[in-house]
Amino acid sequence: MSNVIISGHSFKVKITSAEIQKAVSVIAKQINADLKHKNPLFLCVLNGSFMFVADLMKKVTIECTVSFIKLSSYEGGMTSSGTVKQLIGINEDVKGRTVVIVEDIVDTGETIEFVANQLQDLGAAEIKIASLLFKPEAYTKSMTIDYTAIVAPNDFLVGYGLDYKGHGRNLSDIYVLDYIEDELLKRKLI
Ligand code: IMP
Ligand code: MG
Repeated sequence: MSNVIISGHSFKVKITSAEIQKAVSVIAKQINADLKHKNPLFLCVLNGSFMFVADLMKKVTIECTVSFIKLSSYEGGMTSSGTVKQLIGINEDVKGRTVVIVEDIVDTGETIEFVANQLQDLGAAEIKIASLLFKPEAYTKSMTIDYTAIVAPNDFLVGYGLDYKGHGRNLSDIYVLDYIEDELLKRKLI
C-alpha cells in the first residue's frame, strides 16, 4: 500500500480498513451483550469519532439513542494542547441514564475526563467509554476504558476520522508518520 502526503509529511498504512472493521465488530458484540436492557445514550465526540460512530452504530443492535458533542484539544498539531475546548455541549437529558462516551482515540485522557465530569454533574447513572484507539503509554488518567477496539502505540495517527491539521479524516485506513517534509526534500522524494 502506498504512502499518502498530508500537509507535506508522508504517512504509511498502520491499520487497514479490514482490521478496523473486525475490531469494531468485536466491541459492538460486547456492547450488545453488556448494555442490552439499559437503553444507553451514545455520546459521540466530534470531529474525530464520526467514522467510528457510523460503523459502530450499524453493528449495535440494542435499543439506544445517539447524540454528539464537539470538543477540540489538538488544535491541528501532533500533540495534545492539554486543554479541552468545548465547541458544542451536551444537549441531552442524561439524568439517570447509562451514557457511553464514544471517542476516536484516548491519548492523555484529558478529553474523556472532561466529558465524564460533566456527565457526572448532570446526574448520569452510569458512564462507559468506547474508543476506537487507546494509547496506554500516553494515558495519564485512571478511568477504565470499557471498550477499546485497537490498542495503539504512542505514535501520531491519521485517517478514519483522525486528522493532521484538519486533513486525512476521510481515509479508510489508519496511517502513521513515515517521513517528515524535510526528510522527503533531502531524499528528493518530493
Ligand atoms: P486526549 O484528550 O489527550 O486523550 O486526546 C484526545 C483527542 O486528541 C482525540 O479525541 C483526538 O481528537 C486527538 N488525538 C489524540 N491522538 C491523536 C492522534 O494520534 N492523531 C490525531 N488526533 C489525535
Ligand atoms: Mg477526538
